[in-house]
Amino acid sequence: MIKGKFPIHKFNSIETPFYYYDVNLLQQTINTIQSEIKDKPYHVHYALKANSNPRILQEISGKGFGADCVSGNEILRAIENNFDSNQIAFAGIGKTDKEIEIALKNDIFTFNVESIPEMHAINSLAQTENKKARIALRINPNIDAHTHSYITTGLDDNKFGLDEKQIPEILALLPSLSSLKLIGVHFHIGSQITNLSSFKNLCYKINEIQKEFDNTGYILEHINVGGGLGVDYEQPNEFPIANFKDYFNLFSTHLELRKKQTLHFELGRSVVAQCGSLITRVTYLKKGIKKNFLIVDAGMTDLIRPALYQATHHIENLTSNQEALDYDIVGPICESSDIFAKDFKLNKSKRGDILAIRSAGAYGEVMASQYNCRDFAKSFFSDTI
Ligand code: LLP
Repeated sequence: MIKGKFPIHKFNSIETPFYYYDVNLLQQTINTIQSEIKDKPYHVHYALKANSNPRILQEISGKGFGADCVSGNEILRAIENNFDSNQIAFAGIGKTDKEIEIALKNDIFTFNVESIPEMHAINSLAQTENKKARIALRINPNIDAHTHSYITTGLDDNKFGLDEKQIPEILALLPSLSSLKLIGVHFHIGSQITNLSSFKNLCYKINEIQKEFDNTGYILEHINVGGGLGVDYEQPNEFPIANFKDYFNLFSTHLELRKKQTLHFELGRSVVAQCGSLITRVTYLKKGIKKNFLIVDAGMTDLIRPALYQATHHIENLTSNQEALDYDIVGPICESSDIFAKDFKLNKSKRGDILAIRSAGAYGEVMASQYNCRDFAKSFFSDTI
């Protein structure tokens, strides 16, 4: 089995657990995205929710990506880290007045609006500020993303987006909301999508919806298809960069863009997942009643994905090349769900060995908590460690 390349001699003196980011891989990923979209009217807004570590943000903003934010603080974090405010899309079903004001003050690119009451709120706050707020309607396309139910967002029973049937009512309402300007439509069907046919179905749906708009007099300047492209959690060394070529080609082939329309993407996971690893030490080996437990010093407080979504992350022992044995690799937290992997084949391990829990760059550090009064794991970068 191929292992990732890590500066293990440097890891020995660092207190574990910690996040380690391979900056070179991040840059290669960003460059791949850029080269795939360079001749197309496409814009990528990086979804800050996946990882909002300032160093990561600076790498991404430095290459001209826009930002996709879901809170006022994310908007401020994006701006602090050099994203252009006029390239910020602001999503979320529960934008508060305070957050809307932050967005208005910074003249963001667009509010992706998710309900009629939200449109009223943005309109009245924009009026007070004497501004015109650009909005895109987030429409729930009722398309199955074939992913974990917790990260499926585009189905009828999900809380996200507007019902397509509300479009005529909204268009009739818009002239009275004079501080709003409708500039686009937005969709997001879910995350960690590996079956690209879900995106194809989304394109077909958007083509239908566009037809509804064609006769209304509203010109949609942009279509935003959200994020969701999945990564290979099982083979991060074999597939360190997602298949952006097929992903973007799918939209070029199946989505009927109108003249001068731009297509926007909100990619999070596929940009940052593979460049990050959670580095942890083996604290104890414990022979349980039925299982061999490998107890490590990282826990669900550092990386909650396995506990929350039964997610699998590839794990490597960076300090052993002995034969592989079966282990349940668990954290120290007082919860039975604090398990990184069950019956996982890992090189024979001993107390003090250093493990890398791979593909942890997305929804890792950002979802950490201090449950059990634990410290937050620090982060280190390949070029400055
Ligand atoms: N745009 C919107 C409106 C979103 O809700 C999301 C993610 C994205 C873009 C970015 O999607 P991505 O390209 O990263 O798939 N914590 C979960 C994932 C939650 C995703 C939430 N929305 C996990 O660890 O799997």
